[in-house]
Amino acid sequence: MIVQIPDVLGADELAHFRQVLQAAPWVDGLVTAGHQGAAVKRNRQLPEDSPAARALGEHVLAALERHPLFISAALPARVYPPMFNRYEGGETFGTHVDNAVRLLPGGGGAQIRTDVSATLFLAEPESYDGGELLIEDTFGAHAVKLPAGHLVLYPSSSLHRVEPVTRGVRLASFLWVQSLVAEVTERALLFDLDTSIQRLAATGADEAARLQLTGVYHNLLRRWARP
Ligand code: NI
Repeated sequence: MIVQIPDVLGADELAHFRQVLQAAPWVDGLVTAGHQGAAVKRNRQLPEDSPAARALGEHVLAALERHPLFISAALPARVYPPMFNRYEGGETFGTHVDNAVRLLPGGGGAQIRTDVSATLFLAEPESYDGGELLIEDTFGAHAVKLPAGHLVLYPSSSLHRVEPVTRGVRLASFLWVQSLVAEVTERALLFDLDTSIQRLAATGADEAARLQLTGVYHNLLRRWARP
């Protein structure tokens, strides 16, 4: 299930993000790479504990919490604090799968299971060449390169890569979600059902049917959720 979430950040917010990121202390992205990622990762990141990463990360989280499509698609139980990366001059992140479990920074040893991965695009697509996020699923590889301020959600279990950036600078934020519903197939069913219920609500056509389907939604969620 690959879901695009439009307009997580607006134009003013993006201008602020770019200004902060321009002056930020970028380091080699290998600092957070797992063993299998390290061999193929060539990019730069903000240190997780840098003031810029913390302030912008909190801004991203607040924007996502207000976004009904994010809540519906990810069903978040815990969110890893957003991080920031930068690719230029041919930098790339070869095919890999994200680590299944991560230590939450400052979490006193608390862990997060990565069910959903997210990339929030911060640079306009026409400002750089390459840099597509390629996500593989059973239907093949999907290239994702979204307008600045838009976000893509995909299962953390997917093989994925970032194509080399051959012109300009690709700026993005990325994060992981531990979902209330770990199984991607169950999460996808709930998302489809919720989307249909919202459409039905917008028509106002059959309130009794909408209520019944809402009951089905919550009873499935009750069955599958592991808070
Ligand atoms: Ni990854």
